[in-house]
Amino acid sequence: MVKSYFPKSFLWGGALSANQCEGAWNEDGKGMSVADVATLKPHIPVTDYKAQWHVGLEDIKKAMETDDTVYYPKRRGIDFYHRYKEDLALFAEMGFKVLRVSIAWTRIFPKGIEETPNQAGLDFYRSLFEEMRKYNIEPLVTLSHYEMPLYLVNEYDGWVSREVVDMFVKYCKVVFEEYKDLVKYWLTFNEIDSIFRHPFATAGIVEEKYSSKKEAEAAIYQALHHQFVASALATKYCHEIIPGSKVGCMLTRTLTYPETCDPRDVLLAQKENRDNYFCSDVQVFGKYPKHVLNYLEENNIHIKMEDGDLDIIKKYTVDFLSFSYYMSMVASIHAEQREKVGGNLTTGVKNPYLETSEWGWQIDPIGLRIALIDLYDRYRIPLFVVENGLGAKDKIEEDGSIIDDYRIAYLKSHIEQMNLAIKDGVELMGYTAWGCIDIVSATTSQMSKRYGFIYVDVDDYGNGTYKRIKKKSFYWYKKVIASNGSDLEY
Ligand code: BG6
Repeated sequence: MVKSYFPKSFLWGGALSANQCEGAWNEDGKGMSVADVATLKPHIPVTDYKAQWHVGLEDIKKAMETDDTVYYPKRRGIDFYHRYKEDLALFAEMGFKVLRVSIAWTRIFPKGIEETPNQAGLDFYRSLFEEMRKYNIEPLVTLSHYEMPLYLVNEYDGWVSREVVDMFVKYCKVVFEEYKDLVKYWLTFNEIDSIFRHPFATAGIVEEKYSSKKEAEAAIYQALHHQFVASALATKYCHEIIPGSKVGCMLTRTLTYPETCDPRDVLLAQKENRDNYFCSDVQVFGKYPKHVLNYLEENNIHIKMEDGDLDIIKKYTVDFLSFSYYMSMVASIHAEQREKVGGNLTTGVKNPYLETSEWGWQIDPIGLRIALIDLYDRYRIPLFVVENGLGAKDKIEEDGSIIDDYRIAYLKSHIEQMNLAIKDGVELMGYTAWGCIDIVSATTSQMSKRYGFIYVDVDDYGNGTYKRIKKKSFYWYKKVIASNGSDLEY
């Protein structure tokens, strides 16, 4: 037993996204989304993150011509759409106090342009949230988790178009009205900063539509500006429609260390970290950081802004900051001569003090404590760890059990560091372990990269019974929640 600093109100739970778990990609009026274009890519080296998620015009055309669900695994997910009651019962058995899910925009507005929402889509999420409430599981709902309507990509260039802001706000207002009695905690854009790493999944930007790298980069900044405005407007309407609601932004925290104490390494790492803070600086402080404005000016990138945009961003800042944390990186002025590692769509120099996951992600629990302290010292608003976990291959033993001690060890070490960060004075609202039931991987669309406390019997190609099996970590996490983080033994 360890001394727990977790507050009594701490929200323990798990996290999922619609496009990685629901399946039913073309049922009940759902439109096609950017996720339905993602193909299975198991053999790409971890350091080649661009290739993991590159989507071109030809890929979109091919995807639109087929109903295949074998090589488009996000179309089938784990069939959560039909099995959510069974899955929620298992989460409740573990004692979840919160479940992070996302709403697929395409279930509510299949193309994004419709005047009236799709009733079947609204009904699905109502039933999902009501079922959570039945178990006293608080829904934490992401409005956009890599799932914008494909129609808006093809006809509007995704978030590069200003019109998409209005369509997104229309969607947000509908879901706030619809679920105002059921959902109190909302997140606007999942890993909003990921637009620089995979502009297609995050913002519907097809890079080959632009004549040069520079033009594509300008499109990314334009789209991001639109997302900042949309996020601020969503925050405004959420507060107006649901009094007492809390809205968070969501950052991929890619903590970077200097390789040495050479001030040039330190400066480089500092730059990486400041770049990483760009989006949360805008969403928490309500204005663009000066170093970004300088960069835009020097590179002749002119973001088109409408009158009032900067006021909206200034006025409607978020209530809390949520983030994903999986790993840390190292920056070095001698990077070319160093061994590289990749993970979560970033690359960097290998850290000799850390182990890596099977997918090459550097495991760094103390980094989570550092990240929490840094973020809290910078922003002074409540934090929420909404993604953390280990993607690994699991084996079913002859007796049917799954002994995932490696996963428990990963989660335990991160929870220990969270506990210490709270002791260090950080205000932390909750923790949602990523992929609390096995789901399709975001980057490579594999099923074999598993994060869950619950195993789902399906392979990379969709073969299997979809049966749910409790892993050893299921029983362990139940104990962790019941003891409010003081019993971490296994
Ligand atoms: C985060 C995403 O970046 O990483 C999730 O928000 C994703 O959607 C998670 O699943 C882990 O990545 P992967 O590729 O292992 O599923």
